[in-house]
Amino acid sequence: MHPLADTYGRRFPYLRLSVIPACNFRCTYCLPHGYRADPNAAGPLSLDEIARLLRGFTRLGMRKLRITGGEPSLRRDLTDILRTAASVPGVERLAMTTNGSLLTKRLDAWADAGLNAINVSVDTLDATAFAALTGHDRLSDILEGVDRAVERGLTVKLNAVLLRGVNDDQLPAWLDYLRTHRVGVRFIELMQTGDNLDYFRRHHVRAELLEQRLRDAGWTALPRAADAGPAREYLHPDYAGRVGIIAPYSKDFCAGCNRLRVTATGDLRLCLFGEFGIPLRALLQRDEQIDDLVRAIGGQIGRKEKGHFLHEGRTGITPHLASTGG
Ligand code: GTP
Ligand code: 5AD
Ligand code: SF4
Repeated sequence: MHPLADTYGRRFPYLRLSVIPACNFRCTYCLPHGYRADPNAAGPLSLDEIARLLRGFTRLGMRKLRITGGEPSLRRDLTDILRTAASVPGVERLAMTTNGSLLTKRLDAWADAGLNAINVSVDTLDATAFAALTGHDRLSDILEGVDRAVERGLTVKLNAVLLRGVNDDQLPAWLDYLRTHRVGVRFIELMQTGDNLDYFRRHHVRAELLEQRLRDAGWTALPRAADAGPAREYLHPDYAGRVGIIAPYSKDFCAGCNRLRVTATGDLRLCLFGEFGIPLRALLQRDEQIDDLVRAIGGQIGRKEKGHFLHEGRTGITPHLASTGG
């Protein structure tokens, strides 16, 4: 068996590493009251711990790394983390998910450090709605950062969580944008978490309807690439950009899962909605521990569940996605 493969034949060349749980935004579906730190929680992994972790994962076949948060740019040493990650042999694609609040300021430093791809949360193209949703009136600055990232040659995707009554009527505005912008826009179905049950009931919309509207408008689905993320992707010859659909409640969503996660404090999470985390931090303290680390990770992969529990209305232990890096 491939070292990072499970008993369902899934491989995991893709690691999502959260580098900080904190976020400066207050998205209504995620952290409506802002991030509250737990004073007793351990601090996030240090640069040295991260470097050891990544060497362990690449020995097991990890090739694509996505840095997530909270909001990763709240880490002062983010550029060092990116440079270190890019220099680990085996890391072929270095991506990051961000709310974009520091994009215009830091893009060049991040790209120079080796960042290849960036996903930015932009739930709406309406500046007033954006400010209401995130608590920050920053849409135009973030979109300027997005344009600059495209110009620098990064692969850029925008994430829009579909929300009934908030942005579910905005497909025409997005399509206008995609005519001329070489980015992917992914429409994400709202996921139920421990903290957003009421909100979920009021705002969840199925993505299938939108997919039907795309197909009717002449968009065609692309075959899924080997290291692809969770999105089903659509293309149209008249548009510079593409559309992705992330529908975690759809039938075969988990069958294509190729991701493992590590939280900011070094717990391995086999699934976003997994019930437990496996602490790896104690194995990240000295370079000589790498064989033990590789054995510990390899030994856990077979325990990854075949699918998540969202269909059963369970949310696992995930209070909001900021805590697990989305
Ligand atoms: P790429 O396709 O590689 O660009 O990455 P991605 O789409 O996984 O990255 P991103 O951080 O932008 O995540 C977009 C959305 O997908 C977020 O809402 C994530 O929570 C969701 N997502 C990513 N992986 C999983 C997963 O394993 N399970 C579930 N249920 N949702 C996921
Ligand atoms: N459901 C779906 N997507 C979510 N995100 C955060 N919380 C949720 C949720 N409950 C998205 C953010 C960001 C990505 C990392 O996860 O909008 O783009
Ligand atoms: Fe918004 Fe992401 Fe911050 Fe959550 S972690 S509040 S989704 S920017």
